[in-house]
Amino acid sequence: MTQSIENRYERILKQLEELFQKTRNPLARMASTSAVLFHKMPHFSWCGFYLLTDGELLVGPYQGPLACMKLEKDRGVCWAGINQKEAVIITDVNDFPGHIACDPRSRSEIVIPLFNGYRNPVGVLDVDSTKPGSFNETDARGLEKIAALIYA
Ligand code: SME
Repeated sequence: MTQSIENRYERILKQLEELFQKTRNPLARMASTSAVLFHKMPHFSWCGFYLLTDGELLVGPYQGPLACMKLEKDRGVCWAGINQKEAVIITDVNDFPGHIACDPRSRSEIVIPLFNGYRNPVGVLDVDSTKPGSFNETDARGLEKIAALIYA
């Protein structure tokens, strides 16, 4: 029987909670998070982190095809996530002006802002899919819980 998406996020959350007992290092946690998500969610064509560094968004740990190293400021979905400080769901990237196409096969996307222990935004968790409409509020809530573990 196919697991519901909620169940999959719950199982991934539990697995990461266990793994994270090994270390609080955020980069180690981000690397493990992208590996687990990429391999357990078959419709994720790319998943990883972009991190604020001296006012720029630079690529962090990720899984999937080679991605842009730096994202032009205040353009695209990842910067929208930073600026809006909430999840951004893009049903069809062609309908989002300014979308940055690191991989031309990407058709839908979700971005979750990442906050450190002081509630300051430090980057985003970004997930792409090659199919339009792959992400909804269930993904947003599931991925938010996962992102919250990184600096917990
Ligand atoms: N599409 C993103 C750029 C990052 S890639 O999807 C990996 C954006 O518009 O910000």
